[in-house]
Amino acid sequence: MSRRRDERLERRRDDGTGWRRDRGPARAPATAGGGSPVERLRALLAERLGLAFDPRKDEQLAEVLQQRAAQHALSERGYLDRLGTAWQAELAALAEAVTVAETYFYRNAEQFDALADVVLPARLRARAAQRRLNLLSAGCATGEEAYTLAMVAADRVPATRWELSIVGLDVSRSALRQAMAGRYSRWSLRETPEAVRERWFHPAGDGVEVDQRLRGRVRFVEHNVTDEHPVLFAPDTYDVILCRNVLMYLTPDAAAGVVARITRALAPGGFLFLGHTDTLTGSALTLHQSHGTFYYEKVPLVAAPAPVRAARAQRPRRDVAVGLLAEERFADALAVLDGIGGAEADRAGVLLVRAAALAQLGDTGRAAELCRRLLERDTLHPDAHHLLATCLEGDEDHPAAIGQYRVAALLDPAFALPRLRLGLLARRLGDRPTAERELDRAIELLAREHDERIALFGGGFGRTVLIALCRAELAATS
Ligand SMILES: C[S@@+](CC[C@H](N)C(=O)[O-])C[C@H]1O[C@@H](n2cnc3c(N)ncnc32)[C@H](O)[C@@H]1O
Repeated sequence: MSRRRDERLERRRDDGTGWRRDRGPARAPATAGGGSPVERLRALLAERLGLAFDPRKDEQLAEVLQQRAAQHALSERGYLDRLGTAWQAELAALAEAVTVAETYFYRNAEQFDALADVVLPARLRARAAQRRLNLLSAGCATGEEAYTLAMVAADRVPATRWELSIVGLDVSRSALRQAMAGRYSRWSLRETPEAVRERWFHPAGDGVEVDQRLRGRVRFVEHNVTDEHPVLFAPDTYDVILCRNVLMYLTPDAAAGVVARITRALAPGGFLFLGHTDTLTGSALTLHQSHGTFYYEKVPLVAAPAPVRAARAQRPRRDVAVGLLAEERFADALAVLDGIGGAEADRAGVLLVRAAALAQLGDTGRAAELCRRLLERDTLHPDAHHLLATCLEGDEDHPAAIGQYRVAALLDPAFALPRLRLGLLARRLGDRPTAERELDRAIELLAREHDERIALFGGGFGRTVLIALCRAELAATS
C-alpha cells in the first residue's frame, strides 16, 4: 500500500471512530484533584498510559468513563479516584477500550523490503559470532506486524544454527488474545503477496489461520511501552525494533520517553522502523532511506573511523571532537584529538574532551587519570569532578561517585548532569526521596544546560531525550 493511501486510512479512521490521539501538550497531573470527570480521565490516560486525547473527543471519553464505572458499580468520581491508585488490571482494560488496534499483514510493504534487503543482511553480518537475532514489534496490536516479521525473517535468517527471537508487545489484552489465536479475516491479507498467502496461511471458517510453524516463532507480551521493563527493554538487545503507528497516539513527553527506551534497547548497529506519520526528534539515531521508505540505525559506539568532512576540518579540532561525541562517534572524537599537537594538547578544554571520549569508550582508568590531572590544576573544576564521578560510578564505587557528583553540583548549581546522575543512582540504590528531588532538579536545569555539556556528558543523547529519561525514571519511582 502506498504511504499516501495508508495515511488517508489513518485519517479516515480518525474521523470515523474519534479515537485518534492528539499530540497536543501534556496536561498537568490530575489524578486526585479537580476538573470535570472527563478532564480527569484525560489527565489519567496521559499520566498512566502516555496517551494523548484531543478535548474534541470528550464525548467518546465520557461514554467510556460511564461504561467502565458502571462495570465496577462505582460512581464516575469513585472510579476515577480508584484509577488514581495502582489499579493495574483496570488500567489495562481501559487502555483496551480507548486504543486503536487497526493493522494488517505487510502494512507498508516497502519497509519489509528494506528489512529483507538491507537490515537483516547487515544484522546477520554483525551477529555472525553469536548467531542470534532479536526482533521486537512494539505496539503489535493483533499480531499481523510480528507475524510479517517472522515471514520475512524466514527467508533471510538461516533455519539452522541461528536462533531467532521475535516478540510482539502491546498494552491491549484483547488484541494480544487475537494475536495468539492467529486467526484473521481475509481483509487483513489485502497487502500480502499471493505466494506468501499460500505459504503461511490456511483457510479457517470465513477467514484464515496463520501456519502453526510461524505461530511458534513469535511470542506475545502484554506491556505498556511507556513503562520500564528490565528484560523487555534491557540495553543493547534488539537487532530490529518496529514501533509503527504508536508514537502518534502518545503525549510528546511519553513519546520521547518511549524513543529513549527503545533506543537504549537497540543493539549497537540495530535498526528502528517507525510509522510514516510518526516523528522522531532529538534522537541519537541515524536516518537511512531506501526502497522508498526510511528507518533509523543506532550507530555502534565504536564505529569504524569515518572520514571527517572537509567543513569539519576547518573548525578547531576540539570543537570537531565535541560534535563527534554528540553523534556517539567516540573513537572518531579521540582520533581527532590525537591530531592536536604541542601545548594545545595539554589545554584543560582539550583534556576534558579527551577524558569524556575515553570514559564513553569504557576506559575509565585513563579518563579518571586525566580528570585528576585537571583537578590538580584547578580543584574547583565542576566538569572534571562530574566526569571523575562517572568513572567512579562505572567502576561501581558508588559512595565516591556520589561525593564527586555532589561537589560538581555544588560548584555549579546550574549544572544539570550531576543532578541527573545523582537521581538515577539514587533510584538504583532505592533512595526514593533523593531520586525524586534530583531528577526534578535535573529536568528543570536540563532545559538550560549548555549544549557542550550535553554533548560531553549526555552519552550521545540529546536534551529532549535526557529530559524524557528523567521523567520516565521519575514516573517509575512513584
Ligand atoms: C494503530 S495500532 C499499530 C499496529 C502496528 N504497529 C501497525 O503499525 O500496523 C496501535 C497499537 O498501539 C498500541 N498501544 C498504544 N499505546 C500503547 C502503549 N502505551 N503501550 C503498548 N501499546 C500501545 C495499541 O494498543 C494498538 O494496538
